[in-house]
Amino acid sequence: MNSSISDIAKQMMADPKGLLAADESSKTCQKRFDALKIDCTDESRRQWRQLLCMSPNIELYISGVILYDETIRQKTDEGLTFADALTKKGIIPGIKVDMGLVPMDNFEPATITEGLDGLSARLNEYYEMGARFTKWRSAFEVNDGEPDEAVIRYNLMVMARYASIAQSAGMVPIVEPEVLYEGNQTIEQSAKTTQKVIKILFEELAKLKVNLSGTILKTSMVLAGTKSVMSKPTEVADATLKVLNNSVPNEVAGIVFLSGGQSPEQATANLNAIGLKGEQTWPITYSYSRAVQDPVLKLWRGKEVNTNKAQAMFSKLLAQNSAARNGQFTGKKVF
Ligand code: 13P
Repeated sequence: MNSSISDIAKQMMADPKGLLAADESSKTCQKRFDALKIDCTDESRRQWRQLLCMSPNIELYISGVILYDETIRQKTDEGLTFADALTKKGIIPGIKVDMGLVPMDNFEPATITEGLDGLSARLNEYYEMGARFTKWRSAFEVNDGEPDEAVIRYNLMVMARYASIAQSAGMVPIVEPEVLYEGNQTIEQSAKTTQKVIKILFEELAKLKVNLSGTILKTSMVLAGTKSVMSKPTEVADATLKVLNNSVPNEVAGIVFLSGGQSPEQATANLNAIGLKGEQTWPITYSYSRAVQDPVLKLWRGKEVNTNKAQAMFSKLLAQNSAARNGQFTGKKVF
């Protein structure tokens, strides 16, 4: 039986789980592997994604995994496609469907996200492969001041169009307007831009009659930039919840955070501070890539013999973030 998109979105937000972002492009993987001198091939990427997705007990902490096009076409050692192997564990397979950022003409270095052409046909294929949710990301820099209104508006119009196409294909859209952490912005500047971006996103989603109960917002936390004094977790929690309460409609199925270049410790501490504020209008959880993958990749280093200890580390990081979602992370460091 086909579940409705609101039901899928509810399952994705199930307490105390989070969503794993494993949808890095091959180019991004290459950078991360190169830094650790790991050979980056379609086979080593398959092994890495298998290590993560088939990690023992992952289903206790993870409700859905965002895959990349290459991975959803690959198989695990067991001979199942990644989508089928995840579904078998009770984890919902999802897929990144944007085609990345390109410079926005007349507004460089600002970017616009590509991928609407032929999207409907691609989504039908992904649905057949078992994907039940999708992700689309735009990125906005605050470093040199607020992005131009046209940059924000056009990116979010395109994002809203993606969301409506995803819902017509029977899949939950994750809308991800990332406000970049890199830069010298203060937490106030980050709050102002994040709020503006999210407000415009929901204006555009409303214009296209996107069903919010079948939509998940993936956002950056509100915090001072990498070149400013680091924001404390209580400051991040207050600023983030204020922005979300001012800009996210009550009907939205849930909110998930990206880690955005925060260290694993920082991403967990900040999520925990948000969790400590208690129940909010929407379920809130994590959807990290780097904050749950980086220490694990360092342990693995492309070597089969390191798989078990890397998976043990991954499990610990997921458990910590699942606890942090409810303000229950005890602060013990694992590395
Ligand atoms: P990070 O957690 O590394 O920011 O990645 C999350 C993500 O999905 C970016 O699109």
